[in-house]
Amino acid sequence: MASVVRDRIVSAPDSQLALAAALNGSSQAAGDVPASVGVDLGTATTVLAVLASDGRPMWVGQRESRAIRDGVVVDFVAASSAVESLRLEAEAALGHPLEAAAVAYPPQTSDGVRDTCRYVVERAGLDCAAIVDEVSAANRLLNLTEGAIVDVGGGSTGVGILSQSRLVEVGDLPGGGHHLDLILAGALGLDTAEAERRKRLGDVPGLLAILRPGVERIADRVLTILGERRPPLLELVGGGLKLAGAAAIVEGLTGIPVRMREHPELVTPLGIALSMRAA
Ligand SMILES: Nc1ncnc2c1ncn2[C@@H]1O[C@H](COP(=O)(O)OP(=O)(O)OP(=O)(O)O)[C@@H](O)[C@H]1O
Ligand SMILES: [Mg+2]
Repeated sequence: MASVVRDRIVSAPDSQLALAAALNGSSQAAGDVPASVGVDLGTATTVLAVLASDGRPMWVGQRESRAIRDGVVVDFVAASSAVESLRLEAEAALGHPLEAAAVAYPPQTSDGVRDTCRYVVERAGLDCAAIVDEVSAANRLLNLTEGAIVDVGGGSTGVGILSQSRLVEVGDLPGGGHHLDLILAGALGLDTAEAERRKRLGDVPGLLAILRPGVERIADRVLTILGERRPPLLELVGGGLKLAGAAAIVEGLTGIPVRMREHPELVTPLGIALSMRAA
């Protein structure tokens, strides 16, 4: 019988993620100079991560954003203003200017979308040092050799299949945390903002039972993208399924072992910053 893979040994990605989560807008400068910066433009959240030369997170901050939808920048000014305000906040906290950043684009997007991601970063006052796909960026942190990275964000679920550490297939379908908000809002008679708040707090009795159909739908989308492929592991990243019990539902429905780290929403932002080091 399949069982959710639990990493009992704290591996390097987990300690990086724990450190990044603990920062929560404060700095860990300790005389270090920022060495790399990652910008993650999302449907729900825009994140900026700053790393020291040894890859240790120095500053991580986020803004709620509605500037991106279905992988497309729908409000260029709002997107770049969010990145600019994060940059200014990071610079003030670190006492160093940030000059350049890496940025990532979602799976299956056009050259135009990639260019827009670059322009967002540039308008925010940063040189665009690297532009990478989100799955490869996430894998800079995770170092998965065989398996699939499943990025469940606010609006969509992206899947990237890795074989011998190389990205061999990507796919993306609608469905993410926002759809769970809609289900919760309907079930409890709340507006979606309040449903989002209650979901994050996790203080709703029977929360997982209410959201189960939505989680199963996301898992079903993952199977659709996988087609005939059955990777040995699904690594869940993004905040969309950051709910107790959600990984087990995905594992049960797909029949593939699932791993979700404690701070899945920070995997891609840290990986993007690591991609700048490798560029
Ligand atoms: N603590 C939490 N508990 C439950 N859900 C959470 C939590 N934190 C974040 N989320 C959910 O994660 C989603 C956002 O995830 P993420 O930041 O990965 O998305 P995004 O990158 O902005 O979106 P996309 O990848 O679709 O463009 C939201 O729907 C939010 O409700
Ligand atoms: Mg995302």
